Amino acid sequence: MTAEPKNTGNPVLDQQEQKIKEKLANIDHKVMVMSGKGGVGKSTVAINLAVGLSLENYYVGLLDVDLHGPNVPKMLGLERGELQKRPDGTVGAVIYSPNLKFMSVEPLLPNKDSAVMWRGPLKMSAIRQFIYDIEWGKLDYLVIDAPPGTGDEPMTVAQTIPDAYAVIVTTPQEVSLLDVRKSITFCRSVKMPILGIVENMSGMLCPHCGKAIDIFKKGGGEKLAEELEVPFLGRVPVDPRIVITGDAGKPMVATYPNSNTAEAFEGIIRNIINQTQKMSVKKQG
Ligand SMILES: Nc1ncnc2c1ncn2[C@@H]1O[C@H](COP(=O)(O)OP(=O)(O)OP(=O)(O)O)[C@@H](O)[C@H]1O
Ligand SMILES: [Mg+2]
Repeated sequence: MTAEPKNTGNPVLDQQEQKIKEKLANIDHKVMVMSGKGGVGKSTVAINLAVGLSLENYYVGLLDVDLHGPNVPKMLGLERGELQKRPDGTVGAVIYSPNLKFMSVEPLLPNKDSAVMWRGPLKMSAIRQFIYDIEWGKLDYLVIDAPPGTGDEPMTVAQTIPDAYAVIVTTPQEVSLLDVRKSITFCRSVKMPILGIVENMSGMLCPHCGKAIDIFKKGGGEKLAEELEVPFLGRVPVDPRIVITGDAGKPMVATYPNSNTAEAFEGIIRNIINQTQKMSVKKQG
């Protein structure tokens, strides 16, 4: 369900609103991956979620709304990937696989070192354009990778995609958990339902002796989820292969599908599928 387009009195804006509504109506579930803090693994979770869903035969779009640090193309091995130019003049997202495509500001930049220096209104119109100008087609899931915090980009997603859900990523230490509370306050103020919290970088097994080491502590995300009455979606351990596969553009769930870490992502994906299905039944009922 999407909101009725607002009539602004400006024919260009009204046409955009109408197109956004039409595009979003073709997408069953929209999931924004966000966090209060930078570098906690949002893009890693978003990419492994999108690829994991696509490996389960869902049709998936990945929308990178991190305009200042667009990491999705690199992490999918498609830096400088090209948007599809269709014979009818429309533009499609960059193709990763037959059932996964993505959109990011990166393919629009003159070169990989170009920096986006936009303020709020430009960022808002770019994100809106990523939705109304791109032929997303029919999708089961649109996964949205947000920059840290509660600024222009997540605000624009909340305003433009009124039926988006949030997945909040944190690391277990208190400075990150403190910022999760702000993400939850954001979601509650913009009425974005929260699918749950993911605790990333949650302990690791020493590669030499096999002993568990809790580098950033452990369990804080789950405890906070309980306290704030938000579902806990699961934890992902620290695993150096996440860095290697991210840098190589070969996502962990596809490269090491039988590893404990990929299994952790798969558990989280299963919980996200269950939550989205539960919530859409509630909405229909
Ligand atoms: N569980 C993990 N184990 C090891 N490395 C990880 C793990 N999760 C993420 N990383 C690495 O940490 C770095 C930051 O991750 P990522 O880019 O996904 O974070 P982010 O929250 O999207 O950052 P930003 O706030 O800049 O968008 C990357 O190099 C990534 O490979
Ligand atoms: Mg990121």
